[in-house]
Amino acid sequence: MRKIQFFDTTLRDGEQTPGVNFNTNEKVQIALQLEKWGIDTIEAGFPIASPGDFEAVQAIAAAVTNMAVAGLARCQKKDIDRAYEALKDAKKPQIHVFLATSDVHLKYKLKMTREEILASIKEHVSYARDRFEEVQFSPEDATRTEKSFLLEAIQTAIDAGATIINVPDTVGYSNPTEYGALFAYLIDNIKSDQEIIFSSHCHDDLGMATANALAAIENGAKRVEGAINGIGERAGNTALEEVAVALHIRKDFYQCEANIVLDETKRTSDIVARLSGYGVPKNKAVVGGNAYAHESGIHQDGVLKNPETYEIITPQLVGVKKNALPLGKLSGRHAFTTKMSELGYQLTDEEVKSLFKKFKELADKKKQITDEDLIALRADEVRRNEENYQLKTVQLQYVSNGYQGAIVSIEDEQEAVHTASAIGAGSIQAIYNSIDQIFQQQPKLVDYEITALTSGEDAQAEVHVSIECEKTKDRINGIGVDFDVLEASAKAYTQASAILKEKGE
Ligand code: KIV
Ligand code: ZN
Repeated sequence: MRKIQFFDTTLRDGEQTPGVNFNTNEKVQIALQLEKWGIDTIEAGFPIASPGDFEAVQAIAAAVTNMAVAGLARCQKKDIDRAYEALKDAKKPQIHVFLATSDVHLKYKLKMTREEILASIKEHVSYARDRFEEVQFSPEDATRTEKSFLLEAIQTAIDAGATIINVPDTVGYSNPTEYGALFAYLIDNIKSDQEIIFSSHCHDDLGMATANALAAIENGAKRVEGAINGIGERAGNTALEEVAVALHIRKDFYQCEANIVLDETKRTSDIVARLSGYGVPKNKAVVGGNAYAHESGIHQDGVLKNPETYEIITPQLVGVKKNALPLGKLSGRHAFTTKMSELGYQLTDEEVKSLFKKFKELADKKKQITDEDLIALRADEVRRNEENYQLKTVQLQYVSNGYQGAIVSIEDEQEAVHTASAIGAGSIQAIYNSIDQIFQQQPKLVDYEITALTSGEDAQAEVHVSIECEKTKDRINGIGVDFDVLEASAKAYTQASAILKEKGE
């Protein structure tokens, strides 16, 4: 069995998804869950990109124990220095240096000749290698680069000290036959007296990112890059959970193993969905809500006789659990803390106090509190503690066949409460108009989605909103969870509006 390393870029390429902004605390939460899931290397960010990215890379390096932590850098000394500063105290630091090699990038974006590209790779990879034991080099847009020049660029990087070569399908142009053959060609033709790890990095523009990554593995790649739930630039990256489960289910074919703890998969996906504001489509492979649902009579009959008839992945494999011991309003603090630690949360006394109170409030409204409810409660609490603005109250006046009225109060970080009222064609519009008045801004609502966190009429609602800044066209996501749909909608919009306000756009 060959060992495949998993390299997660949810916090770097994944954060390039329009509207996704993780703060440092959220990044650390995700990183710790990725470590639990068994990720070998996390790309924690692009340290030169912003002080926030730098701080997050440093915080992740300090928080994790086993996982290697990588920072992205262009072929520029200032980028490499910044990555070094952010990672110098990491237990296992890595740098990921990239430079485009395709003619279209050279001519229009970089305005550099091939000779200049090779010289830059040589200079910057060796500069990086003087500071890092592990240096990954990526020839950006590799799959649209002329093959002989790609090999020359990669050989230059190896000669300058690169230990890992990543071959990005930057624009999702390749297909499994072609991408697999490219790995076979590069691995056969490079010269090195030490082992060079080849890595795949695929985008999903043509819906082939997972298939391409698996083809790379079949042809010698020992590292696979991707993001949880496939988030990322444009159509996104390879969904790492799909690769992990495919390697497991088709071990007979791929003959590979990895460090991934499969029954942490669903939880990892849920945390990323919740904090990114990007819900997982119901029909998404491996982690979608319908992945284990059987609708037609023939399928249901087959599954009841033997699940193997229509189920190649069991829900238990990826950690979709039946709630064996759901909590209710009579459950005490002990049952609550035991359940939270089973879910992987080590809470401080202060956190137990505040979360237990919220749990009791929810239990008054809901018959059974499921794992999903508790995970949502905790994510909501963490997020709210980070936020400078808190939704206090929402009051509504509903009139059939008329305008709806809302009064909303929001508390700022100085504990001053701001109240505004407005009307709207519907209740949500009235609430959002009131929030716009409080923040004195008028973003465009470009996306609004409600999901039920569990089944049943007493499910908690999770609302995702995406707003667009009028001036910059930047998108910002917000998320709100509550037993009440209108309250969840107000929380989500308050969160996105507060981020927009802080960005000062
Ligand atoms: O898609 C890409 O080419 C990248 C590089 C930075 C590796 O994300
Ligand atoms: Zn990418």
